[in-house]
Amino acid sequence: MTYLLTISTDDPAIMDNMWVSGATGIEERDHDCRVGFDDLTTAEAAAAALPANLTWTITPVAPLSSWDTYATVTTHDQFVIRPPWLNLDGPDSPVSPTTGHIELIVDPGTTFGHGGHPTTQLALEALRTHLRPDDSVLDVGCGSGVLAIAAAKLGATTIRAIDIDLEAVKQTQLNAAANGLAPEAIEASATRLHDLASTFDIVVANMARPVLLEHLDELRTCTNRVLILTGMLATDPLPFQENSLQLGDWGCHVLTIRPRPSHPRPAGGDIDTA
Ligand SMILES: C[S@@+](CC[C@H](N)C(=O)[O-])C[C@H]1O[C@@H](n2cnc3c(N)ncnc32)[C@H](O)[C@@H]1O
Repeated sequence: MTYLLTISTDDPAIMDNMWVSGATGIEERDHDCRVGFDDLTTAEAAAAALPANLTWTITPVAPLSSWDTYATVTTHDQFVIRPPWLNLDGPDSPVSPTTGHIELIVDPGTTFGHGGHPTTQLALEALRTHLRPDDSVLDVGCGSGVLAIAAAKLGATTIRAIDIDLEAVKQTQLNAAANGLAPEAIEASATRLHDLASTFDIVVANMARPVLLEHLDELRTCTNRVLILTGMLATDPLPFQENSLQLGDWGCHVLTIRPRPSHPRPAGGDIDTA
């Protein structure tokens, strides 16, 4: 059973906090925010922490699969993202199958990452801009695996995808296969960030701002060259100087990491603020 918390708000900051409160899915509809939870206790705790001026209800619903009906083909930058059951030759497709684009086939299942969220799209754009052939890439908080799959299609040759949610690990593997990637192309696991022994040319993390802040040192330590952080509002900067991208209310920070000459890899470098 899924528990649906419906809140009378379209405030992105409230939605952002819902991820930290344990949400498994969030949908914005008609100025309401609909948030899915796996259990009633977590849903009630999230509701109790809401500002007093908001009204909310909690309803038990069958496990979420109704997204399938609403799924669309999404485009951003050079990417076209579609679920496996929609084709680019359909009447509603925004592009034709022959248009030059990078196609990502993604079924999020019960995870986050259908490709339409601005933070996912900003991360995709940053990956395309900064990824070089044969780079190694780490996708932290992989969800459906959309960013790891994009990294593979952009030419990365060593790719790890990690998430605390085992469903996300499974969904990333399924989606990698749906994109024709070999099973070894993306190493997906529930490995915790602090347990990773390797460093990566590019680290991308699309997670709620409090989670990013909690893991900032670890994220920096495992980055060799570029650290892409998104998941926060554009008005909520992180505590350093950086290049930032914005889409709607959402922001993405691209940090150039300068290796420490006196501490060769595997230790990560400093953020280059030059
Ligand atoms: C906003 S979703 C991003 C999904 C996908 N990468 C995208 O861009 O669409 C955030 C993901 O981070 C995961 N997550 C949250 N805290 C985490 C942590 N400490 N370590 C790894 N993954 C985490 C969640 O389970 C969720 O799948």
